[in-house]
Amino acid sequence: MNKLQKDFLWGGAVAAHQIEGAWNLAGKGLSIADVMTSGGNGIPRQVTKGVKAPYYYPNHEAIDFYHRYPEDIALFKELGLKVFRTSIHWSRIFPLGDEEMPNEQGLQYYDDLFDRLLDNGIEPVITLSHFEMPYHLAEAYGGFRDKRVIEFFAHYAETVMKRFKDKVKYWMTFNEINNQADGQHDLHTWTNSGILFEHEATQSEKEAVIYQASINELIASARAVMIGKSINPEFQIGCMMAYVPVYPFSSKPEDQMAALKVMNRRFFYSDIHVRGKVPTYAVKSWQQKGYSIDLSDEEKEVLQQGTVDFIGFSYYMSGTVTTLEKLEGQSITDFDNSKMLTNPYVSSSDWGWQIDPVGLRYTLNIVYERYGLPLFIVENGFGAYDDVHEEPIQDQYRIDYLAAHIHQMKLAIIEDGVDVLGYTPWGIIDIVSFGSGEMDKRYGMIYVDKDNTGEGSLKRRKKASFNWYQKVIATNGEDI
Ligand code: BG6
Repeated sequence: MNKLQKDFLWGGAVAAHQIEGAWNLAGKGLSIADVMTSGGNGIPRQVTKGVKAPYYYPNHEAIDFYHRYPEDIALFKELGLKVFRTSIHWSRIFPLGDEEMPNEQGLQYYDDLFDRLLDNGIEPVITLSHFEMPYHLAEAYGGFRDKRVIEFFAHYAETVMKRFKDKVKYWMTFNEINNQADGQHDLHTWTNSGILFEHEATQSEKEAVIYQASINELIASARAVMIGKSINPEFQIGCMMAYVPVYPFSSKPEDQMAALKVMNRRFFYSDIHVRGKVPTYAVKSWQQKGYSIDLSDEEKEVLQQGTVDFIGFSYYMSGTVTTLEKLEGQSITDFDNSKMLTNPYVSSSDWGWQIDPVGLRYTLNIVYERYGLPLFIVENGFGAYDDVHEEPIQDQYRIDYLAAHIHQMKLAIIEDGVDVLGYTPWGIIDIVSFGSGEMDKRYGMIYVDKDNTGEGSLKRRKKASFNWYQKVIATNGEDI
């Protein structure tokens, strides 16, 4: 076979909080995304205590997909999308997160949205939690620091999986569950387990909290898999990982060991999702560092029972590590004298993300070899400044980025034999950037007229990449 399978799932991806807006409509509660201010390129976003004047919160309106989705879905249909990946905004269903009864208006919104997609021949692929925990759970419980949040998540998962059991087949539990292990806790913003570090002083105190919260989140994920399978055995339920492969800078053996140690920070999560138990390298490291992680025998059983069917992952860039003294870099603690540095063999985006299409083929190979499960590339894309003066907007750099990645994906499938379910490029339509809160870090093939301060008509326009991707899908990836 030298072609992609006929039922390859070409699509597009977004997340509820980055597109919907309608932050306080129809019974929706505040989520952790609603208290994040706008930042900028190199300027971090802030988290405020509740919603406060005079701050600007870009997710409150986002691109108003909540009201405009019929128009957007018509464009997705024209593109030829077979699947559309989005998330359910948890606080639309459970405004506080710890209620017994769900918000019917929230459920109805997703019923209507999924119906509209299906009526247009587009299958929804749903993430249960994409950085969207109800704010109350983060404030009152400390997010997944608290094991009670496992139950609240399981109740939420059960509610939506029951309600949408005939409309959604592909589910993922937590978006990029592993990025909390990447020093994200140094930023003054939420981890995806709903934690904001305000009191822990040292790195190791923070790391111990992160591992406990991660274990709790992984138990919640396994519970959701078990619940989902009991509701509909046909469900395909996956995890969602951020795979940024890290290369050793040199052939110095210590560089190889440093890369292996950094990669273990990512594999820790997928090892548990797929193999159902805490890997030995983590147990040993916790012992050495003196972390006592609370994980009961009953919870271990849940991890074993709730393993995933596939691995969804994002791929944007690669990283490089070295122990060579003569090189400058950012020190890390994974291995003695190791530091992350810029890879001189690849270029970078305006936001400093290193562009490495071959890294996608490499990632597909190492992950498939490690687990043997189907893989789903549910995010890949190029955040760039667009020049809007031409019609259609000329975004050849985005086409180049996506084409190079699709080419490498095809090599992984056709030459290396990796099982890939589909490809959903990130930000199929312009959205609010997660990291910086900007609109101007654009990923879309559909332009949205809105700027970083919230001004703009919200009008949609096609970019050159729209016509290009339409052709890619129509030829099942032959013509890239
Ligand atoms: C992933 C997230 O980390 O990267 C998305 O799942 C995010 O939510 C995407 O938008 C791109 O990051 P950013 O910061 O450019 O929006």
